[in-house]
Amino acid sequence: MVIELHDICKSYLQGKEQVPVLHHIDLDVAEGEYLAIMGPSGSGKSTLMNIIGLLDQQTSGSYFFDGRDMTQCSDNQLSDIRNQKIGFVFQNFNLLPRQSVLENVALPLLYAGVRKKDRLVRAREMLERVGLAERVQFRPTQLSGGQKQRVAIARAMVSHPRLLLADEPTGALDTRSGEQIMELFHQLHAEGVTIVMITHEPEIAGHAERVVTIRDGRLENGSFSETEQEGETS
Ligand SMILES: Nc1ncnc2c1ncn2[C@@H]1O[C@H](COP(=O)(O)OP(=O)(O)OP(=O)(O)O)[C@@H](O)[C@H]1O
Ligand SMILES: [Mg+2]
Repeated sequence: MVIELHDICKSYLQGKEQVPVLHHIDLDVAEGEYLAIMGPSGSGKSTLMNIIGLLDQQTSGSYFFDGRDMTQCSDNQLSDIRNQKIGFVFQNFNLLPRQSVLENVALPLLYAGVRKKDRLVRAREMLERVGLAERVQFRPTQLSGGQKQRVAIARAMVSHPRLLLADEPTGALDTRSGEQIMELFHQLHAEGVTIVMITHEPEIAGHAERVVTIRDGRLENGSFSETEQEGETS
């Protein structure tokens, strides 16, 4: 399993009160799986995604990532795991506006200690893969939404993480650009990348192999059904 969440609860402190957001979440995601998480606004999807992506910590419960207990890791260890093993894609792209497309994509490799020449070569290769070879010197503001999201995917994947986390990756895009993003996700999935994607849209969720739903911080269909388990070898 890449992700094993057991009995995860999360609450936020509001003034003096603990406001619960996630309730007893159990969720396993197998290596190479493509999972969609659906649910209404405010149901806790991004909160769960942030915990999975090691950007935030649960209030209680256990999280094993890649077989390793995340509650036993220091902040430095968590950020190393995050940088090496997890790629992120967000609804609003989160690109640096003053940097070129190429520099944006090369940035994660700087944190990984790759030397400059290699960073730029690898970033260019990723941009070719997402169909943006002609745009490497552009700034993000000079791109369409769909192009920005393809830059964000190139950045997420440039260090070859095994897990791609996407929070509403098509939420700001028109249908056609959204379909291009889904095509890229299919390619990555076919190459063995594990994908966890949040979406409001049933058509987008339909691209995943498995769909789970969160309502009011509770997960429905979180663990494998028996028939699915028979087909899995772990
Ligand atoms: N940092 C925070 N402090 C306090 N409450 C928070 C914080 N982050 C989220 N919440 C609350 O947790 C609940 C779930 O928020 P979350 O962002 O996970 O929802 P979501 O399912 O991603 O919604 P959307 O579809 O609108 O993005 C909301 O009620 C929100 O107000
Ligand atoms: Mg959200």
